[in-house]
Amino acid sequence: MFRNVIVRKPAKSMVHGLTSANLGEPDYKKACEQHSAYLTALEQCGVKITLLEADERFPDSVFVEDTAVLAEKCAIVTNPGAPSRQGEEIEIKKILQLFYKKIEHIKVPGSLDGGDVMKVGTHFYVGLSERTNEEGVRQFNEIVDKYGYSCSSMPLNEMLHLKTGVAFLKEKDLVVTGEFIEREEFKDFTKIIVPESESYASNCIMVNGTVIMPAGFPQTQLAIENAGYIVKAVDVSEFRKLDGGVSCLSLRF
Ligand code: GLY
Repeated sequence: MFRNVIVRKPAKSMVHGLTSANLGEPDYKKACEQHSAYLTALEQCGVKITLLEADERFPDSVFVEDTAVLAEKCAIVTNPGAPSRQGEEIEIKKILQLFYKKIEHIKVPGSLDGGDVMKVGTHFYVGLSERTNEEGVRQFNEIVDKYGYSCSSMPLNEMLHLKTGVAFLKEKDLVVTGEFIEREEFKDFTKIIVPESESYASNCIMVNGTVIMPAGFPQTQLAIENAGYIVKAVDVSEFRKLDGGVSCLSLRF
């Protein structure tokens, strides 16, 4: 059960955000509208929202998920792997101090993005990506071990982040696409497979019994509904233009 969500308003500077998507420049006004609708969807799932002001210094700062990993027993402030994002975590730490007594840090030369971390019960799966390096995973492992959690890492071949292509729903259910469909690490899960044509929709989140997913992916929506889930689809097209999805836009705890 999540009680809280931290989100940050999009910055006008988001038009200069990092991207490999080749979908054009995001429309700031539309992004703000989509962000508001995303917050409404979260609120309808019963969480309390902490909404941070836009931070124009950081074009990608709307993607708060990369700045921290939140668990029951501690918060881990990351060291984001992209140089233009370093510093976002300092701002997030100030807010996390209001909620967490135990705050840990990933430190240089370690780097780690929250988007590379998927928590399943007391286990963390961590993607080794362009953003998350071996030293980041080593530090992360050492931290979570102290609190009684376990951790395993896996190299990514195609995806920006681990959660670009895989989402944990509940029990044994995973939404997966691309390189994660056949991964040994996920062999014991029940997989809802997202076709290549809808691969963006594999980035979805389970919030208190509802799956929030991007709008416009009917096959995936139907597959998730057929697996017994209530689905809320939200339009996040402007964030997709920056390689971001519904998970990247919030920290849930
Ligand atoms: N544009 C989101 C990211 O690359 O971190």
